[in-house]
Amino acid sequence: MNAHPRVAELDVHLTPDDLAAALRSDARAGLTATPKALPPKYFYDARGSELFEQITALPEYFPTRTERALLEGSVDRIAEASGADTIVELGSGSSAKTRLLLDAFLRAGTLRRYVPQDVSAAALRGALDALGAEYPDLELHGVVGDFTRDLGFLPRGGRRLLAFLGGTIGNLRPAERAAFLAHVRSVLEPGEQLLLGTGLVIDEEPLVAAYDDAAGVTAEFNRNVLHVLNRELGADFEPDSFAHVALWDAENEWIEMRLRAGRATRVRVAELDLEVDFAEGEEMRTEISAKFRPAGVRAMLGEAGFDLVRWWADDDRRFALSLATAV
Ligand code: AVJ
Repeated sequence: MNAHPRVAELDVHLTPDDLAAALRSDARAGLTATPKALPPKYFYDARGSELFEQITALPEYFPTRTERALLEGSVDRIAEASGADTIVELGSGSSAKTRLLLDAFLRAGTLRRYVPQDVSAAALRGALDALGAEYPDLELHGVVGDFTRDLGFLPRGGRRLLAFLGGTIGNLRPAERAAFLAHVRSVLEPGEQLLLGTGLVIDEEPLVAAYDDAAGVTAEFNRNVLHVLNRELGADFEPDSFAHVALWDAENEWIEMRLRAGRATRVRVAELDLEVDFAEGEEMRTEISAKFRPAGVRAMLGEAGFDLVRWWADDDRRFALSLATAV
């Protein structure tokens, strides 16, 4: 243990009450829409986060290990090209890829502050405790918030690099994605940077397999959102009566996950005072995971006010990292 550990700051801009209110309104909107849909952010309770960790180790799910290898191979050049003194990481979760970034920026000699942001206060506290012990000289400043909403609360000052890894930007629909990137740009000063991870468009077969693994872990992850609604909203879904569906939408170039009702059912959501009917075979969308082409990444960054300065992809062109500067 360090004799003089720095005390990490933790700003809370999203309370458990805020999260509960968001779940209620999103669940009501999504369950009464045609077709029905739920936002993917509600997969990630403790069990869902654990299932996602298991997904990242599956033979079929290549994005996490591909991005990690890419980061390992490029992170020193990223640090050199960047020169940032602050790394802000959106949706940092358990901060698994964080150490690669921190070590490289420390080797480059520029880093003095790390700002992880996540919706989970518990995940952030865990990460800050561990990082505080491992990096006693680094200033740590956690922000509990929703990255689609709370970027205005990120601490300013210094020369910041904002990292948004994992390909999570693909969970946003095109209009949400554009709004999100414009929001990111608006909280940065000219010259500050964005490091963005994006899954790339590849052949349909391995892509669908990545979202429909043989062991059924992704199916369980998908159904977990129903367990979340049962627990948080007093719903009476029978998760096992819903089948996991993963398909490639070639027009939109995204993977879509759905839950298909095995039989006609009426679900009661006690806390919303809502009854929802599912027809036999009815499908509810639970996630999109968009994949990109290099020109598409450049264009979306450009439209948001970023200049793409460097681009790294693996040899199989499955995943890319973009380093962009706010203009
Ligand atoms: C964590 C959002 C990047 O979209 O690939 C994994 C989530 N969904 N398997 C993705 C996910 C199904 C994942 N992200």
